[in-house]
Amino acid sequence: MSRTLLVTSALPYANGSIHLGHLVEYLQTDIWVRFQKMQGHTCHYVCADDTHGTPVMLRAESEGVAPDDLIGRMRDEHLRDFQGFHVEFDHYHSTHSPENRAFCEEIYIRLRDRRPSLIERRPIEQFFDPVKHMFLPDRFIKGECPKCHAQDQYGDACEVCGSAYAPTDLIHPYSAVSGATPVRRESEHYFFRLADCAEFLRGWTRSGTLQAEAANKLEEWFRSGLSDWDISRDAPYFGFEIPDAPGKYFYVWLDAPIGYMASFKNLCERKGINFDAYWQKGSNTELVHFIGKDILYFHALFWPAMLEFSGYRTPTQIFAHGFLTVNGEKMSKSRGTFITAESYLEQGLDPEWLRYYYAAKLNGSMEDIDLNLEDFVARVNSDLVGKYINIASRAAGFISKRFDTKVTLSANPNDVALLNHIHATTGEISAAYENREYGRAIREIMRAADLANQYVDANKPWDLAKDASQAPRLHEVCSTSLNAFRLLTLYLKPVLPKLAKDVEQFLNIAPLSWQAGLTLLPENHSINPYRHLMTRIDPKQVQTLVKANRQTLRAAQQPAPHSPVRHPEAQVRAHQPLAAPIGLEEFAKVDLRVAKIVNAEHVESADKLLRLTLDIGTETRTVFAGIKSAYDPESLKGRLTVMVANLAPRKMKFGLSEGMVLAAGDGGGLYLLSPDSGAQPGMRIK
Ligand code: MSP
Ligand code: ZN
Repeated sequence: MSRTLLVTSALPYANGSIHLGHLVEYLQTDIWVRFQKMQGHTCHYVCADDTHGTPVMLRAESEGVAPDDLIGRMRDEHLRDFQGFHVEFDHYHSTHSPENRAFCEEIYIRLRDRRPSLIERRPIEQFFDPVKHMFLPDRFIKGECPKCHAQDQYGDACEVCGSAYAPTDLIHPYSAVSGATPVRRESEHYFFRLADCAEFLRGWTRSGTLQAEAANKLEEWFRSGLSDWDISRDAPYFGFEIPDAPGKYFYVWLDAPIGYMASFKNLCERKGINFDAYWQKGSNTELVHFIGKDILYFHALFWPAMLEFSGYRTPTQIFAHGFLTVNGEKMSKSRGTFITAESYLEQGLDPEWLRYYYAAKLNGSMEDIDLNLEDFVARVNSDLVGKYINIASRAAGFISKRFDTKVTLSANPNDVALLNHIHATTGEISAAYENREYGRAIREIMRAADLANQYVDANKPWDLAKDASQAPRLHEVCSTSLNAFRLLTLYLKPVLPKLAKDVEQFLNIAPLSWQAGLTLLPENHSINPYRHLMTRIDPKQVQTLVKANRQTLRAAQQPAPHSPVRHPEAQVRAHQPLAAPIGLEEFAKVDLRVAKIVNAEHVESADKLLRLTLDIGTETRTVFAGIKSAYDPESLKGRLTVMVANLAPRKMKFGLSEGMVLAAGDGGGLYLLSPDSGAQPGMRIK
C-alpha cells in the first residue's frame, strides 16, 4: 500500500557549524527518506535553519553584522555541508520567514483564545545580567542541576539527567555572557499551560508514537509533574514579537518546531501540494520527526500539545537517536575529534565512507553511537571496497574485453541459486531499513556480498579465461556477478546514493527502485567501461583530519570581535618595547582594587572622558576615564573593573579624579579590564 509521509530532521541552530554529531541525524533521516522514496511512497523531507534567540543576536552583534546577514550566511554554509554529504531535502527553509511568523501567531492566538485559555500571563523573577543589561536566556546561565547536582549545566535542561527546569532553579548560577553573578529582576511572562494538557499527552505517549525508551522517559516526566512552559522573552531578542504584547517575543523553542510547518508550507506553495491534507486534524498522512535524544522533551510534550490544542494533527512518530561519541568519548576540540562537516570534505574524505559507517552502526534505539576512527578505516576498506566494489571490478573487465561489453542471461542452476539467494533477503533488508535498523540491513547486505564473492572464488573466472572452450561459462559467471552486484547496489542505494548513481551509469540501467528487485540485466545488454567506483581510505587521511580539527580550534580561540579582519587597525599596530624591570616591593606599592562601576556618565564638553562612580567596598570614588570613544556609559553600569586606588588625586578641569581604571590599548581600540566572576568590589589585586 502506498504511503504518504512528511519527514523532518531537527532544525540545526544557525549559530553553529554542522559537525559529525549532527550528521548522525541528517544521515539517518536521509537514508530513511531515500528508502521510502525507493519504495515508491510519496515522501517529503523538509528542514530549516533554527535562527532565533539570543546566541544568534549576540553573535551578530559581536561580528558587527545584522542578524539577517548572519543567518543568511549560516544557512548557505549548512546547505553546502548537507549537500556535500548527499543529504537531499525537498526543501530547506528558515524559521525567520513570513510563513513561520504567520503560523506562530495563529497557533498562539488559538491557544490563547481557548476557554479556558491555555496561555497565562504572570510576572516572574528572572536572571538579569547587570553587566550586559539584559535578561539572560536559559542557555546563557550555567550552574548546578537542581535534580542531579551535575555542575555547569545550562539553564533550561540538564544534559546529564535530562530533566527540564527553570533557570532560576539552578544552584550557584552565573552569566555565561559576562561571567557576572546575575541579579533577579521581575517582568511579565507568557506561559503555555502544559499541565492542562497532561491527559491528552498521556494518551498520545502510549499510542505507539514513541520508542519504548522514550515513552519510559515521558512516564518519568509525568510522574514528576508537568510545569507550565514559559514561551516569552523580553527585548532585546531576535525573534517574532508576540501579537498582543509589544516588547515580548516568542521564545525560540516555540517557533522552532512550527518551522517544520513553515518549511513544508513553502514547499507546498511552490509545488502545488495540499498543505491541509498533511496538517489538518485527522489527516491520514504520516508525520515523522527525527530528533536527538536531547530534545525529546520539546518534541514529545510541548509540540504535540501545541498542535493538538490549536486544532492541528499530531505527529505519527518521533524517532529519537543517541549521541555521537568519537573513539568512545564525547567529541572533543582539544583531541581534534570535534570534526566539522566542512573539514571532513575539505580533507578530501569521501562522504559515502561516513554514510556507510554510520549506517553500519545505527539502530532504532536511543543508544549513543561510536565513531571509532580505526574501525572506520577497517570497515570501509574491508567491507565496502574489499567485498562489495570488488565484485564489479572482478567481472567488468572480462565483459568489456571478451564479450564486447554485453552480458548474457544464465540458466545454470548455480547462477540462478546465487541470485535467488541474494534476492530472498530483500524482505528482511527492507524491514530493517523501515525500522531504522540500518546496522542489521548492512550485515545482511554484506552477508550477501560474501556469497557473491564465494561464488566468484568457486567459479574462478581467471581460470576460465585461460581456456577458449570455456568462454560461454566465463560469460555466464561474469554476467551473474554483475547481476549480483546490481542487486547489492539496489540494497545499498539509500546509504550510498552517489555510488549507486555511478553504478547505474556503469551498468547502463535506469535508476534502481525497490520494485525493480530481481529484474536481471537483459540478454545482450551492453554495459559501460568500468571506472574506479570507490577508493580505500588511507589511515593518514584520518590522522590529517584529526590534526586539522585541532588546528581549527586554535584559530577559533582567537576572540572573534578582535580579529584583524574586523579591526584593520590591529594589523598595523606597533609593538611597544617592554619597560625596565622592577622589584616586587615597587609593584606592591600600587594598590589595585576590584571596583564596581555604579554610575557612568558623559562629561559636558569633554570629548574623551567619562565620569565613573566606582564602588570599592569601603567607599565610592569618582574617576574621570578617557574611554568615551570605546564605551557607551549605559553599557558600563553594573560591571566590575580594576582601579588604581592609591593614585594621588588629580584636579582636572571637570573635577577631582580619585584614581584610575585600567584598560588595555595601543591607539587602535580600548579594552577595560574585568576580573573573573565571583570577585567582589574592594578586593585587592596582587
Ligand atoms: N535547534 C534545535 C532543534 C530545533 S527542532 C525544532 C537543536 N539544534 S542543534 O543544532 O543543536 O541540533 C540539531 C540536531 O542534531 C538535534 O536533533 C541534536 O540532537 C542533533 N545533534 C547535535 N549534536 C549531536 C551529537 N553529538 N550526536 C548526535 N546528534 C546530535 O537542537
Ligand atoms: Zn541533572
